[in-house]
Amino acid sequence: MGYSVAIDGPAGAGKSTIAKLVAKEKEFIYVDTGAMYRAMAIHFLRCGIKADDSEKISAAVNDVNVTISYVNGEQQVFLNGENVTGMLRTEEVGNMASASSVNGDVRKKLVELQRKLAASACVVMDGRDIGTVVLPNADVKVYLTASVEVRAQRRYKELIEKGQEADLEKIKKDIEERDYRDMNRDISPLRQAEDAILVDSSNMTIEENARAIIELIDKNQAESCVIGSAKAIANAFVNEK
Ligand code: DC
Repeated sequence: MGYSVAIDGPAGAGKSTIAKLVAKEKEFIYVDTGAMYRAMAIHFLRCGIKADDSEKISAAVNDVNVTISYVNGEQQVFLNGENVTGMLRTEEVGNMASASSVNGDVRKKLVELQRKLAASACVVMDGRDIGTVVLPNADVKVYLTASVEVRAQRRYKELIEKGQEADLEKIKKDIEERDYRDMNRDISPLRQAEDAILVDSSNMTIEENARAIIELIDKNQAESCVIGSAKAIANAFVNEK
């Protein structure tokens, strides 16, 4: 098992931007698990499956193969061999991902993939259930959040900067609905793991956030090193006796 950092939190808290910076600094692999749920959602949308049709979603899971690879350190997501990375970040796909992620068969398949990735490398993994379900033994767990108002403002700015139309009130409502669904589903709801550290990004810059998390990792690694050395010394003492 590699070293693992779990970052969970609601939509728009800045998880992916911050996790990417942290991964780059620590030379870990960044794993965006939301992108996997989004890739599956594209498949369901293409099949014309309704978000609340759990039987059809469960059946369709058997036809979906989501795989991940890295090009210049950037995660690429493949849906049955097709690179769908550029299609993941629309509101339609995000809403379908949120709705279909309540399905146990969808989660089972993706959690397996996520655990395999974490077993093979040092990772910063972000999502909703990483610290609670996917990697309960993660070395560092962070719950990254921000107020609904701040998250809606950030999304609004992002859309306007891209030259797209945006309605702040609608964005706010979508965020609230998504939070409610992610936090109240039966399987693996979004919640802060007991041993996760709460970071509220409302009044912090991206760099300040990333720095705070890097410091947590550095501290954890230094402590693990001290504990590891103490164990080695204790073992050597026992063996000598
Ligand atoms: O982080 P995101 O917005 O790309 O995620 C899209 C949806 O996928 C999110 O609303 C809920 C779901 N998701 C999940 O259930 N568990 C994860 N680990 C990541 C995402």
